[in-house]
Amino acid sequence: MNGFLTPSALRSRIYSIPRVRFAFLPTPLQYCPTLSRELGISLWVKRDDLTGLAFGGNKTRNLEFRMAEALSVGADVLVFGVEASSNSARQTAAAANMIGLPLILILRGKPESSPQGNLLCDLILGADVRIVDVPTIHSLDPILKETAKELQRKGHRPFILNHGKMFATGAALAYAECLLEILEQMDGRVPDYIYISSGGKGQAGLLLASKALGLQTHIVGIAATFNEDPWESAARIASETANLLGLDLMISPNEVENTLEYLGPGYGIPTPEGLRSILLFARKEGILLDPVYTGKAAAGLLDHVRKGKVAPGSTVVFIHTGGQPALFAYSNSLTRFMQEEASLSRGS
Ligand SMILES: Cc1ncc(COP(=O)(O)O)c(C=O)c1O
Repeated sequence: MNGFLTPSALRSRIYSIPRVRFAFLPTPLQYCPTLSRELGISLWVKRDDLTGLAFGGNKTRNLEFRMAEALSVGADVLVFGVEASSNSARQTAAAANMIGLPLILILRGKPESSPQGNLLCDLILGADVRIVDVPTIHSLDPILKETAKELQRKGHRPFILNHGKMFATGAALAYAECLLEILEQMDGRVPDYIYISSGGKGQAGLLLASKALGLQTHIVGIAATFNEDPWESAARIASETANLLGLDLMISPNEVENTLEYLGPGYGIPTPEGLRSILLFARKEGILLDPVYTGKAAAGLLDHVRKGKVAPGSTVVFIHTGGQPALFAYSNSLTRFMQEEASLSRGS
């Protein structure tokens, strides 16, 4: 790319893409005085858990683009397939209600006699929830297609959200815009590091915006699932989104800083470091993280600070992507962990 864009030029390109407004933007950027002092850095948390849409989270931003696409093709019913514990399902159910479209959620999991967390919210929001016990997330695809065909046979115009053109690109546009918000909120100070829980999509947007603006910020993704190759997917999505924005810019997988190191045994399985990070952020700054995504991302950030991968004195923004309804679904693990920590500190 010849020359860099100004933030306002990048913003106007993003604004040229159709969207439905759902999110409360800009989300706050919260300075963390105690953790900053204890870690020897300047730590800010971008509160994307406060985006709105039924407890909020990172998906609220990208749903603005994805729902605009569904409306533009004249959909009269939405179909979406994800994990039963998904934050995305909850925010999608709220967005669907706001635009008045019925939503069929095909969720991978086991039927629950007493649903908790996101699943409980999906039901309260009135989505047509269908739980299927299939081996992997990819096994949902034929079911989504079959559901859509059945709806078509009945004369409907279904839109499978997973297959939308904006599925990944919308997430990247959303986080390109989030970076612009951060820069504005920091009054000219540019973060040395941005940390985000990401399998690639949100990170793609941060990366492309940072490259388009010519920033030197390290954009570090901490993955919470093995479902995606975060390096390949962030690079591909960033390049596709740059193309959509008319930017002559490519990102290659070796420019993507992401790690699977803090994921533990698998998606949705809490790690001791993740749970410890939840307690730390809660008790030092009053911020609630979650055990599936942001707790693990915070564990990655804290470990990088301890190991000196984040240089002392750096300015660091941690993007809180939401997910707190999972705290209630993981009540047993959290309670056990707090008891163990308390007995360790009593020395028993
Ligand atoms: C709370 C939270 N953080 C992070 C992510 C990952 O986002 P991305 O789509 O950028 O990989 C998700 C995805 O569901 C999420 O719910």
